[in-house]
Amino acid sequence: MSTSTLSNLNTFLSSQLRTTLPPATTHTFTSQTLIVTGANSGLGLEAARHFVAQGAARVILAVRSLSAGEAAARSIAESTGREGVAEAWELDLARYASVEGFVGRVERELEGGVDVVVANAGVFMVAFERQEEEEEGGPGMTMVVNVIGHMLLALLLLPKMRATAVARGRAGVITFTGSFTHWMTSFPERTAADVFAELADRKTARMKDRYYVSKLIQLLVVREFAEELTRSAKPGKIITSVVNPGFVATRIMRHEGPMFQIFQKGLLKMLSRTPEVGSLTLVHGAAGGEETHGQYLDDCKVGKPGGFVLDPQARATQKQLWRELTAKLENIHPGIMQNL
Ligand SMILES: NC(=O)c1ccc[n+]([C@@H]2O[C@H](COP(=O)([O-])OP(=O)(O)OC[C@H]3O[C@@H](n4cnc5c(N)ncnc54)[C@H](OP(=O)(O)O)[C@@H]3O)[C@@H](O)[C@H]2O)c1
Repeated sequence: MSTSTLSNLNTFLSSQLRTTLPPATTHTFTSQTLIVTGANSGLGLEAARHFVAQGAARVILAVRSLSAGEAAARSIAESTGREGVAEAWELDLARYASVEGFVGRVERELEGGVDVVVANAGVFMVAFERQEEEEEGGPGMTMVVNVIGHMLLALLLLPKMRATAVARGRAGVITFTGSFTHWMTSFPERTAADVFAELADRKTARMKDRYYVSKLIQLLVVREFAEELTRSAKPGKIITSVVNPGFVATRIMRHEGPMFQIFQKGLLKMLSRTPEVGSLTLVHGAAGGEETHGQYLDDCKVGKPGGFVLDPQARATQKQLWRELTAKLENIHPGIMQNL
């Protein structure tokens, strides 16, 4: 095992076993409107519950199943005693038209603006799957949900969020739920002339670490997104970050086989955080703060990413991924990059 892997493992174990995260009461979300994707279960649901408990005016649970979202909204109202703050809106990040439709509704119905987006939904697929709506030759569900759909959402929401930031005199926040697993891949696809095309090849797709690759790519593109936001002369400041929630007992690995489930059960028992605790990291990301911009956040503070991110080639790869991704987004929604 290399020294850097050992150091990453050591950080992971210390974080899981010896770290107490600051409580949600450290932050207030009074009068704010927040959108949380994947808010019907796991980390998204518990983060949304914290936001409602900490005074948010409106929390949009952006979910692909409306009935699951409505059950989540009821559970939040019951536990916080605040009726009608959390509401479920349909959003399927694997369907670009659904993302566009969701943003259209935000523009029409959230007259008070949008302060925070928690881009949290995610999938851990073990097989290469494409949604029918995905363009022919697309890089599959893991990449579409974990990276492309969320960047489409973030860029489409920028004008509304900038206007809100100007009106409030306070920066808006777009925080993405990342993962410590970004360091668990050597990311061999990075040497391809077109990385997204390489990932789209069903025959050579390495699904064993596709999720890790998606979280690494997410981290790299959000770093570039942050640089673009910093460079932009448009009024209305937006802070963006990637949050590592740690290892949390949720349903994210549900597509893995029965042997893995048995193994995971033991690991979860020994090491995991509850979703209520793990989601405190999302609350910290959502609170923003200058120091979080463009950063990988770990244990509710600025952390240190690992693996390929530290490679001398990482910056060039980051730029290449950004070029490829933005070309894709322009294809999906012409003119979108002007939002930057
Ligand atoms: N649990 C961990 O140890 C861990 C560690 C690091 C990072 N994370 C990240 O944390 C985030 C939340 O995951 P979780 O652990 O809380 O697992 P989870 O309970 O499975 O939550 C994932 C959420 O994403 C939603 N989702 C999946 N595909 C979607 C789509 N196409 N459109 C809209 N929503 C979609 C799911 O909705 P459905 O219920 O409809 O499927 C669910 O609400 C993910 O980004 C995950 O990668 C988790």
